[in-house]
Amino acid sequence: MARIVGGLTTTHVPAIGRAIARNLQQDPYWKPFFDGFPPAREWLARTKPHVAVVVYNDHGLNFILHKMPTVAVGAAPEYQNADEGWGIPTLPPYVGDQDLSWHLIESPVAEEFDITTCQEMLVDHAFTLPRALLWPDQDKCPVRTVPICINTVQFPLPSAARCYKLGQAIGRAIESWDEDARVVIIGTGGLSHQLDGQRAGFINKDFDLMFMDMLIREPLRVTRYSIADLVELTGTQGVELLMWVVTRGALLGEVTKIHSKYHIAISSTASGLVVMEGV
Ligand code: DHB
Ligand code: FE
Repeated sequence: MARIVGGLTTTHVPAIGRAIARNLQQDPYWKPFFDGFPPAREWLARTKPHVAVVVYNDHGLNFILHKMPTVAVGAAPEYQNADEGWGIPTLPPYVGDQDLSWHLIESPVAEEFDITTCQEMLVDHAFTLPRALLWPDQDKCPVRTVPICINTVQFPLPSAARCYKLGQAIGRAIESWDEDARVVIIGTGGLSHQLDGQRAGFINKDFDLMFMDMLIREPLRVTRYSIADLVELTGTQGVELLMWVVTRGALLGEVTKIHSKYHIAISSTASGLVVMEGV
């Protein structure tokens, strides 16, 4: 049977792609952000996952407003990246794991979740940049992948409670996958940020830090926030932290924190990174 080695949650911001392309990891602006990642990479080197289930939100590359699934699971042999217009290099394709994909579709559907199946799927910066941060040498990247995309763009969005339950269904599905594989769950998005409107530039450090702590120790408290609460507390794009809620749900039970980092700001975003393992 497959085993979940743990969960890893991180921010994604297109400017990270430009910083990597220009080798700015030691630049004073970027150093505090990039310095968070070596412990996460060491943990991955230790736990050696075969597959990464990546929970992320698309920003208009694969899903455009006229057709917007709430939850979409990739079931493709590979996933291509494409130009989103941010001026970051397009990255090479990612190898899928269709057997796990179909299991991660069939099992939650049997539990009454409605899932859109994607036998073709472009992956955007929310998927590619965390991968580049965690496995900088993409050519030697040892993991196959299953992308899971959650709508944070077109209302109505799935509630935090729904995301947590979906995460639990994903966790149960992974643990019932009849394959001797180690699986890591990676959630990308947040933390607080708002890119436009009257509150553009909004960041809420107090809430972010409380959220990171709650997520580890009392995840059910996180599920009590409505989407309107989350938009107010974290900004219109801060709701991307729903990806963290799915990831935490998938870990099924208590967890310990292996590593965390919080840094304000990269671009317009409060950046967070957490590595957690089931106890
Ligand atoms: C930024 C943050 C995001 O989450 C995103 O998807 C795009 C841009 C930013 O802070 O610039
Ligand atoms: Fe985003």
